[in-house]
Amino acid sequence: MIIEGTLKDLKKFKEITVDNNEDILIYKEKEVMGYVHYYNNVDYIEILNIEVLDKRNGIGTYLLNYLKEFNKKILLEVNVNNDATLFYKHHGFKIINTREKYYNNKDDAYVMEFNNIYILAIETSCDETSMSIIKNGNVDIHTSTLSQIELHNKYGGVVPELASRSHLEAITIVLDDLLTASNMKVEDMSAIAVTYAPGLLGSLLVGIEFAKTLSFVYDKPLIKVHHLAGHIYANNLTNKLKFPLLSLIVSGGHTNLVKMNQDYHFEVIGETLDDAIGEVYDKISRVLELGYPGGPIIEKLALDGTDTYKFNKIMNDETYNFSYSGIKSNIINLVHDEKQRGNEINKNDLAKSFEVVAIEQLVRKTKLALTNLEINNLIIAGGVSANKYLRKEMQKMANEINVSLTVPDFKYTTDNASMIGAAAYPLYLNGDFEDFTLNAKSSKQLY
Ligand code: KG4
Ligand code: ZN
Repeated sequence: MIIEGTLKDLKKFKEITVDNNEDILIYKEKEVMGYVHYYNNVDYIEILNIEVLDKRNGIGTYLLNYLKEFNKKILLEVNVNNDATLFYKHHGFKIINTREKYYNNKDDAYVMEFNNIYILAIETSCDETSMSIIKNGNVDIHTSTLSQIELHNKYGGVVPELASRSHLEAITIVLDDLLTASNMKVEDMSAIAVTYAPGLLGSLLVGIEFAKTLSFVYDKPLIKVHHLAGHIYANNLTNKLKFPLLSLIVSGGHTNLVKMNQDYHFEVIGETLDDAIGEVYDKISRVLELGYPGGPIIEKLALDGTDTYKFNKIMNDETYNFSYSGIKSNIINLVHDEKQRGNEINKNDLAKSFEVVAIEQLVRKTKLALTNLEINNLIIAGGVSANKYLRKEMQKMANEINVSLTVPDFKYTTDNASMIGAAAYPLYLNGDFEDFTLNAKSSKQLY
């Protein structure tokens, strides 16, 4: 069956014939750019031929992803001297056999096999007990999360001892829920992934020990994932990362600009010299006695506010670093002073004035880095990337300088295990596995 186009379209490739029981998918834009010719058996797919005109534009990946959607084992043969073996490895294929002198009685062939890769991911670094099953690095089969927000709300922030105890109570419940909802078993998993840094040590340890136990009992490889890598790779669940890229990470613990030339090559080019932006959102909400987490509360208030306070621009310099402690102190003092004088504060205007200056800094520094480093792909990540005003301002700037902006789906912005499963996938393909000495780290350093 010919799925798109006609065999005549393939004139730029060598002539092929397609038998009745075989299929061909032709990829066509203005002209035919590639095709995959395959045999769709009851329980596996065999690739007979795959060719693309230009290896760089992702068409090979498109064709393979199309086949992966059948949810069957995929088999192929490839000349051992062909670079394509690397391409297939990158897409999760494993060498399962070698056929000697297969091509023209001269070159050997590898037989390669792809099986769907399911990663069970665990995230307990802060105040969410979250577990997820991620298929092939980008399909969220199911995510179960128990949030502790209500537990910490009355204290205006996360209480570490309460957090770890609550993870301990929740973790088996979350696993049960995940397995029931996904109708899968731990035996079906290819690996267990867990956040090991940074975060609250006691909380991280609950997830790590649980992951080690599952890895030991079910004999599955163990993968450690950095929380920030998780936030970055959350974007993969919506749109595949395109390199080189610049990632702006904005969360309760981080405000970083990270350059990536390829998977897992992180170069931190700028960071906050003091507080993280999310921390300030939380702090302002706390001094206004509005609850935790502050981000969504302040964002909502700002919708009906005007920038009446007109705070000064922050970090008006040529570095890629940020600072948020000045504006934080400014606002805390302002609220206290007005309280002492018995004056009412216009919370909407204060929230709006804060957002304007806090986000202007993010947009300006990101623009500076994109322009100086000539990077065309921008992603934003982390809890604060849920902020609609931030998204709008970033999109405006990206349009202005012709940069493509990718934002994670709203449900993947704040802490969740799906992002940990997505970030574990390149490590799985690379065979980066841990032994049972794996420990928690509180350090914020990104690898
Ligand atoms: O990524 P995340 O869930 O946890 C950390 O890794 O820190 O980020 C949490 C932070 C909190 O500070 C929260 O107030 C902030 O993200 N946040 C927001 C919004 N939603 C969450 N900040 C601004 N606007 C939002 N809509
Ligand atoms: Zn986070």
